[in-house]
Amino acid sequence: MKLPVYLYGHPVLRAVSEPLTPEYPDLRKLIEDMYACMYESEGVGLAAPQIGRNIRLVVIDASPVADAFPECAGRKLTLINPEIEILDGKPEVRAEGCLSLPGLSENVPRVEHIRLSWLDENFQPQSEEISGFLARIVQHECDHLEGKLYIDHISPIRKQLIRSKLNSIISGKTRVDYPVKYAPKKRK
Ligand code: NI
Repeated sequence: MKLPVYLYGHPVLRAVSEPLTPEYPDLRKLIEDMYACMYESEGVGLAAPQIGRNIRLVVIDASPVADAFPECAGRKLTLINPEIEILDGKPEVRAEGCLSLPGLSENVPRVEHIRLSWLDENFQPQSEEISGFLARIVQHECDHLEGKLYIDHISPIRKQLIRSKLNSIISGKTRVDYPVKYAPKKRK
């Protein structure tokens, strides 16, 4: 099944997600569908809230950005119940985008080094030190599981400047070339 990407303004993006258990129905198919959705929309990461499910599941394939960021080469990760430990507190600022915020890109500070612990698709525990742009992708996707978006990390002035673009996503006026689900209309 083709999964639509839920867009900014949808409440599912703002909820804190629940831990995932092996009993979750059709999990393998869901993971497969999430990869397909991410590839079709040309993203390098996708978190379950973005396809309308508040569960702690993330898929990442960072290889498309490996030319600019060698640490991303061949990095394909399925993260279940991921946890991040900050290893280096010095933030680095770089442009970030999000499939749930089409047409936007903003500079976001993120720390460069993290320790990531997670369960793989077989629910086996994994742990790895991750740095650079891959660490940025992981932090961005794990934010989604807490109901956070990258625009929460930008200055109030910057947010004010992109307010009209955000409003056009909320009101369904932004054109997107991958399947999406807009926020429910607010009752007047
Ligand atoms: Ni995102």
